[in-house]
Amino acid sequence: MSELFKRTHMCGSLNIENVGHEVVLNGWVAKQRSLGGLIFADLRDKSGIVQIAFDDNTEKSVFEKAEALRSEYVVGVKGIVKERASKNPNMPTGDIEVAATDLIIYSEADTPPIYIKDDDNVDDNLRLKYRYLDLRKLKMQENIRFRHKVCKLARDYFDENGFTEIETPILIKSTPEGARDYLVPSRVNQGRFYALPQSPQLFKQLLMVSGCDRYMQIAKCFRDEDLRADRQPEFTQIDLEMSFVDQDDVINMQEGFLKRLFSELMGIEIQTPLPRIPYDEAMERYGSDKPDTRFGFELKSLNQAVAGSEFKVFADALANGGDVRGICIDNGSGNFSRKDIDKLTDQTKHYGAKGVVWMRIEENEIKSSVNKFFTQEELNDIAKVFDAKVGDLILIVADKPKVVFDSLGFLRRHIAGLMGLLDDKKFNLLWVTDFPMFEKDDETGELKAMHHPFTHPKEEDIHLLDSEPEKVKADAYDIVLNGVELGGGSIRIHEKDLQAKMFKVLKLTDEECQEKFGFLLEAFKYGAPPHGGLAYGLDRLVMLLTGEHSIREVMAFPKNQNAQCMVCEAPGVVEDEQLVELGLCVK
Ligand code: AMO
Repeated sequence: MSELFKRTHMCGSLNIENVGHEVVLNGWVAKQRSLGGLIFADLRDKSGIVQIAFDDNTEKSVFEKAEALRSEYVVGVKGIVKERASKNPNMPTGDIEVAATDLIIYSEADTPPIYIKDDDNVDDNLRLKYRYLDLRKLKMQENIRFRHKVCKLARDYFDENGFTEIETPILIKSTPEGARDYLVPSRVNQGRFYALPQSPQLFKQLLMVSGCDRYMQIAKCFRDEDLRADRQPEFTQIDLEMSFVDQDDVINMQEGFLKRLFSELMGIEIQTPLPRIPYDEAMERYGSDKPDTRFGFELKSLNQAVAGSEFKVFADALANGGDVRGICIDNGSGNFSRKDIDKLTDQTKHYGAKGVVWMRIEENEIKSSVNKFFTQEELNDIAKVFDAKVGDLILIVADKPKVVFDSLGFLRRHIAGLMGLLDDKKFNLLWVTDFPMFEKDDETGELKAMHHPFTHPKEEDIHLLDSEPEKVKADAYDIVLNGVELGGGSIRIHEKDLQAKMFKVLKLTDEECQEKFGFLLEAFKYGAPPHGGLAYGLDRLVMLLTGEHSIREVMAFPKNQNAQCMVCEAPGVVEDEQLVELGLCVK
C-alpha cells in the first residue's frame, strides 16, 4: 500500500487548546479556495470540518499538490494548529486552522452528482442513488451515530434488567402482523416459500416457552405495505418479551428505558409514570389512537347540541347511528380564508368525510357555512360547547364515527402544523391502553384482531367473547410520542382454551390455525408461562429524537417511494437459470 499519514486527531475535535500542536488529519476535501499565494482547503471527516491553510511558508511541492485539490479528494494532511487571524463563529473549529506542512492525495474524485451539504434541496431519488455520498453530510453522520447510541443504550439497559439478546430467523413462515408478506422461494423445496418476518412475534413467544424469561432483539422486520414518511418495507424494531408479567410490569420496564434514553441522550428528564389514555378516550378527545398532546383543539361531541336539528346532514348522521363532532381552533379564524377551508375540506375527503361545516366567531355574530339552517341562538349553543371566543374557528364533521374521528383527527393535527404548533423540541409521551380486541375488516366486514390473535382479552371482558365480541377490550398498549405510534405490545394468551375461543371468534378453522400457527399452539401444550411484551419502531424513535420528519433520514440505506433500493437497484431481474432452479416462471 502507498504511504499512509497516521491520524492523530479528528478534524472536528480541534480547538484553540490545540494551538501549537503538530497534527495529522485524514479526510475529504469539502472545498478548496485558491487566492493566489494562499490556498484554503476545508477538510471533512465524520467529526466535522477544519480549515487547512497553505501559504508561502508551505514547501513548494506541497503547495503545488494543494493547488490540484478538488472537492471530495481524499487526503492526509500534516500541519501545525494556528489561531486564526479572522475567526469564523459559524464553524465549531472556526477559531483555528491547520498550517499544512505535508499533504498526500489518497484518491482523486470526480465532481459529485449531489452537493455534500446539509441543507441542499436535491431530488430524493438522486440522494438515495448516491447514498454513500449523501451519508458524508455531517447531519446524516450525526443521525446514524445517534441511532447507534440508541441501540447501545437499549442493549445496555435491557441487559442490566436481565434480558438476553437472541436472534430469531429471517426465513420463516408468515407472521400475523396483518401486512402483506415478502416471500422467498425455496430451491430445495420447490413450490414452497419462506416469508420474511413482519416481526419476531411468534419466535419471541416460543422463547418464553423455552424459559428464556426476558428476551430482547434489535430485529429487522419486513412488511410489504404502502410507504409513508414513517413506514419502510424493511425497518427495525427494538423487540422485547417478558415472562410472568402483567401490563403494569411491561409498562414500568419500558418507562425505565424511556426515562434513561431521554436523560442520557437528550438531556431531558421525563416524568414517570407517563400518562395513560384508554383507547376510547383517545378517540373521543383527539380522534386518533395516537394522540398528539402538544396542543389543544380537542374534539367535542355536538350530538346533544344539534339533536332535533333539521339540517339534513346532521339529522341523517344521527339517525344512522353516526356522530356530529367538532374542533375549535383557538384564534384560528384569521388564519384560514374561505379558500383554505375549502382545501382542508377537500383533504378530509380522503378520510371519507363528505363535507366540513365551519363557524367563525365574530364580534357581533357567528358566520358559518350553515347560517341558512341555524339561528344565531342555535349556533351560539354549538359555540358554547367549545367555550369558543371571538376569533375562533369551529370545524364540524357529521358521519359514521370512524369517518368523524379520522377526519377531525387529521384536521386537528394538520391545522396545528399549519399554525406552527408542532414544536420539535417538546416530547409528549403517553400510553394508549384498553384497545378493542377486534375491529371490522373494511372490505369483508368480518372481525379481525386489532393487534394480533395472541393478544390477551381483558379478564373482565372474556365473557363477552361469544355474545358481543366487538365490546371486548384487550390487554394491549401503544406508546405514543408526539402523535406517532412509537411502539406497541400486549399481554399474550397463554391459555389453550382461550386461544381456541379467540380463533373461533375470528372464524379461523382448525386447519387454518394449524397451518398458520400450529407450531406455537403445539408449543403451548408443553407449559407456557404468562407473558407479554412490546416492540418499538427504532427508526421512528430515532426520527423523532433527531427532529427529522422521515425515517429515511435515520436509515443508512432506505428504499424509495417505490420500495426500490436506488443504490443496488433492487428488486432486480434474475437469470433464467435461477428461476428454473426455483421452479418458477415469470409471466
Ligand atoms: P407493531 O406491528 O405495532 O407490533 O409494530 C411495532 C412498531 O414497529 C414500528 N413499525 C414500523 N416502522 C417503520 N416501518 C414500518 N413499515 C413499520 N411497521 C411498524 C412502529 C410500531 O409501533 N409484534 C408486535 C409487537 C408486540 O406485540 O410485541 C408488532 O410488531 O413503531
